[in-house]
Amino acid sequence: MESGIGRGEDGVLCLSGVPLDGLLRAGGVQTPAYVYDLDAIAASARSLVAALGDRGVCCYAIKANDAAPIARTIIREGCGVDVVSGGELSIALACGARPDRIVYSGVAKRDDELDLALTTGIRAIHAESVEELDRIAARARALGKIARIGLRVNPSVEADTHAHIATGHDEAKFGIARDDLPRAFDVIRASQGVLHLVGMSSHVGSMLMTTAPYVEALGVLIEIVRDARARGFALEYVDAGGGFGVPYRDDQQAVPGAEFVTAARATLDAAGLSELALLIEPGRSLVAAHGVLLTHVIQPKRSNAGGVARRWLLVDAGMNDLIRPALYQAHHRIVPVDAGTGPVVPWRVAGPVCESSDDFGEHPLPDPPPSLLAIREAGAYGRSMASTYNTRPIASEVFVSGGKVASVRRARAIAALVEEEIKE
Ligand code: LLP
Repeated sequence: MESGIGRGEDGVLCLSGVPLDGLLRAGGVQTPAYVYDLDAIAASARSLVAALGDRGVCCYAIKANDAAPIARTIIREGCGVDVVSGGELSIALACGARPDRIVYSGVAKRDDELDLALTTGIRAIHAESVEELDRIAARARALGKIARIGLRVNPSVEADTHAHIATGHDEAKFGIARDDLPRAFDVIRASQGVLHLVGMSSHVGSMLMTTAPYVEALGVLIEIVRDARARGFALEYVDAGGGFGVPYRDDQQAVPGAEFVTAARATLDAAGLSELALLIEPGRSLVAAHGVLLTHVIQPKRSNAGGVARRWLLVDAGMNDLIRPALYQAHHRIVPVDAGTGPVVPWRVAGPVCESSDDFGEHPLPDPPPSLLAIREAGAYGRSMASTYNTRPIASEVFVSGGKVASVRRARAIAALVEEEIKE
């Protein structure tokens, strides 16, 4: 069975060769529902693992999608995990991630989260401030552990991406600024072996459409590695972060993730640092294209306010299910599941949530409108950012593999949500 998204002979949209309308019926699942292609996700993980070879570890940024069937699929392909909370760390371990393939970033880790990381013996805790190093040392001492540390460096590289997802510039809260690194080295040295510095990491931002900023940030990391080594710190790895972009529009072209890896390997080789392990932290590029959010049209709405004809399609998925358009003005392609026959006209697709920003933008769709729509590229930062705003349950999820429904996670009934809310 071919993986990926496409139309069958009858024009019905298929995922992994399985018609999407039939999938909902087979699983007895109501919309809104995420549907994921586990085989395509496995293939994208496999290509990055292959590109790295024995040079390092692909640590899946599980924040992109922490659904267990997805995490298990990616981990089974040989990936580690990049986590940013104790919760993510727990899921990664429960899904079979090897502790020595887990790195833990995050600007504000609580003591209990640090304790979990220290006791499970992960590859490294990535410290994001000099102050945090003191806290990690204190927790390690209390637990009688040695803390393996990576420094998340803010490389001061501007990425051409949305301001909310650019992380590697001077104003960002993330990472330790270069100017502050000497203080970080002093704290590590003063810890007398409690803090064991093993790596340097950076993450420039998300949705990088060229390898240039990635390679530029890695260049900064390389200078820092040399500086650290000159001070007597023997490092095991550099972690160049994630951020590989994916196309969300027909006219967008993305560089395959494997090319970022090739460029990073070549940069390390050219610097004479081939012996350093290379870690990468891709999230979006492994999952975005392999998930859709299915939504039924509740009703169309036509208006002539001010003499201007407007056309909405009001659907049962909202910003609580997929917040990216509201939060980043992100565009997600919306296509009919059944190809339909009427003329294609622009429809403004909006959800039921009581916010003006609950709006998925204008899309060319048939008139009369189809009843079932697929919001594409919804595999990353969709369900993982969902909320119960407006007392709406988190959407159902259907996981497809080998042309069949592998598992289903059903949305909670409204009655169950309400019961939980009102109990004392
Ligand atoms: N590593 C670190 C330290 C990160 O902060 C991130 C993402 C990643 C890796 C993974 O980046 P990716 O490969 O997925 O681009 N919610 C936003 C994206 C936020 C990204 C936050 N950090 C969105 O929906 O576009």
